[in-house]
Amino acid sequence: MENIYHDADVELSILKGKTLAVIGYGIQGKAQAANARDSGCAVIVGTRASAESPSRAEAEADGFQTMDYAEATRRADVLLIELADPAQPAVYRTEIAPNLRPGQTLCFCHGFNVLYGAIDPPKTVNTVLFVPNAPGAFVRAKYQKGEGVYGCVSVDHDATGTAREIVLAIAKAVGSTRAGVVELSFQHETEGDNFEEQILYGGAIHLMRLCFQVMVEHGYSPSFAYAKSIRSLRSVLDVMDEHGIESYLTTRSSRTCEYAVRTRGPRVINEAAVREIFAETERGEFARDWMAEWALGMPKLHRMRRSAAESEMERTGVTWRRDFGA
Ligand SMILES: NC(=O)c1ccc[n+]([C@@H]2O[C@H](COP(=O)([O-])OP(=O)(O)OC[C@H]3O[C@@H](n4cnc5c(N)ncnc54)[C@H](OP(=O)(O)O)[C@@H]3O)[C@@H](O)[C@H]2O)c1
Repeated sequence: MENIYHDADVELSILKGKTLAVIGYGIQGKAQAANARDSGCAVIVGTRASAESPSRAEAEADGFQTMDYAEATRRADVLLIELADPAQPAVYRTEIAPNLRPGQTLCFCHGFNVLYGAIDPPKTVNTVLFVPNAPGAFVRAKYQKGEGVYGCVSVDHDATGTAREIVLAIAKAVGSTRAGVVELSFQHETEGDNFEEQILYGGAIHLMRLCFQVMVEHGYSPSFAYAKSIRSLRSVLDVMDEHGIESYLTTRSSRTCEYAVRTRGPRVINEAAVREIFAETERGEFARDWMAEWALGMPKLHRMRRSAAESEMERTGVTWRRDFGA
């Protein structure tokens, strides 16, 4: 039986009188800091000490008191770790761990570093996880409309006996209990997220590119191929999200489309590869591969980025958005 929590199930009062330090002010940190502050929490922001840190300037422009990671750790009761994942182990080792005290709460936004042992918090602090299931700008926009985004929470270690109440209160302060949050393990959050990124984002993006490439190779106009490869999928996804896949197929698409989906879709997907990637993810192979790439300065990623940026599909996208709107 799944544990699902909504606003009415959660008390914010456990955060009263506590200082929340948002450690890292990027895509998620900016949104979560603003939402928590608007929910009445006392929020400070930890950033790199360097004057060149874009995060520090941005947090100050948004009216937050900023300080380096070590000082924010000392002043905090609850730390929201919002650093880029590969950067977390070094910052944790040098600035956070030496300044932790018993009874604090470390709240991660992805279980990656804890699950794979790159960060091993002491048993004197709560180790929890809260992840809103959307990019930061969307988390903020929903909150400002009085809504929230679905999220998940997890308790890896409960040092104070109140870790669950604290992480749920964080989820409420950020707005996610307005939509609902589910409780799961660090393992499922991390592996589920990594699996989704490889299969769904990886698969969908490569399928869109292949769709474009094959059409253009066969003489279709790039702008028509672009619309077919991206734009039509976007509108269809909105309908499926709102009404469900079957409702889309049976009542909101043509019978030709329904027949094409049911008979040809399975041929496009390599089920064995999907299962193999799931197994690799469970064995930690994706995590090790990514950490090794980061440690080398991401040479493979930079190479792949360069060639993708120069592709005909990207060039077509620029003119397409100019001619037909985003
Ligand atoms: N992106 C999302 O929407 C999303 C969604 C769900 C969960 N998450 C999770 O949220 C967490 C934060 O992700 P994010 O995407 O918000 O991160 P991000 O925007 O890439 O970076 C956040 C912060 O990390 C700092 N940082 C980067 N490299 C650093 C280094 N080497 N040393 C010290 N600080 C460094 C940046 O500071 P500077 O400005 O000084 O460079 C910035 O303040 C991650 O655990 C991620 O998995 C993100």
